[in-house]
Amino acid sequence: MIKTYPKVTVVGAGNVGATTAMLLLQKDIANVVMIDVVEGIPEGKALDLMHMRSNERFGPTIIGTGDYQQTAQSDLVIITAGVPRKPGMTREDLIGINAGILHSVLERALPLSPDACYLLVTNPLDVLTNLAQETSGLSPSRLIGMGGVLDTARFVYAIAKETGAEPCEIEALVIGAHGEAMVPLPSLATVKGKPLGEVVSEESLERILQATVQGGAEIVHLLKTGSAFYAPAASIVLMAQAILDNTGEVFSSCVRLQGEYGISDVSLCVPASLGSQGVREIIELPLAPEELLLLRASAKAVKDQLEH
Ligand code: APR
Repeated sequence: MIKTYPKVTVVGAGNVGATTAMLLLQKDIANVVMIDVVEGIPEGKALDLMHMRSNERFGPTIIGTGDYQQTAQSDLVIITAGVPRKPGMTREDLIGINAGILHSVLERALPLSPDACYLLVTNPLDVLTNLAQETSGLSPSRLIGMGGVLDTARFVYAIAKETGAEPCEIEALVIGAHGEAMVPLPSLATVKGKPLGEVVSEESLERILQATVQGGAEIVHLLKTGSAFYAPAASIVLMAQAILDNTGEVFSSCVRLQGEYGISDVSLCVPASLGSQGVREIIELPLAPEELLLLRASAKAVKDQLEH
């Protein structure tokens, strides 16, 4: 029997978009339509991936295109389109340019896939997710940003490096803004079932937190001409799988808060259960008082950015 796959549109055929497409295919998750403004890139990468399919024998297929009609009736639209910050460009310039790109993408994709979930990836993630929430008219539950899953992956790596434990032996979570104002939660982290605070010294914990927050910048510094894409793509695919398979799995996701954690009218990464309709439920964790303060400061930082 031939298996039928859900349809996922990946907007942006750059490093993050193409790696996401590859994982969606290789993990047998979805048929992919990959779209980009640069003619030839999505078509060429899709053809390369279809050649790869001959060897790997995965079931799903991919189309590369510049034509939005091909994206119609997608179950999920993942938006990675954007420009990176270039020398001489301010952060505000980047926000303006990427907000314009996001707006034009949503304007084209939404009418063709009105029932899809939309997963935003382009940075600055928090600001763009908030702007899209305010302008797209999409139900807040179907517009979700990817940030916390990636920050959590970096937290787990830093704990593993410092303790010698394997990632599968570590439980950890990062919430808050996807940037310097992120909020790793050491009070809830465990290593082999023991509280992180009992396993590492204060200096060691400080190094872990530093490495978590600086992980993305360290990669930018090393690569010189781009930012991370393997772990971002894997983070997207975890969330995509929960949405497409309607699993209800909980991930740190950039979602609209309306009173949860005492925060309102802003999108921020908090644990949320994801399914086919997007956000099923926002989970309110029992945070340590200082962590709650940091989360509220993170919300304020995002709101301040939105006002500028
Ligand atoms: N529509 C579709 N694609 C677009 C548009 C648009 N309006 N504008 C730009 N693009 C495409 C570019 O042509 C490029 O192929 O988006 C792609 C971005 O790819 P990269 O520059 O390789 O960036 P990448 O590393 O994939 O990161 C994409 O994800 O993690 C975030 O910070 C990262 O915001 C960045 C985004």
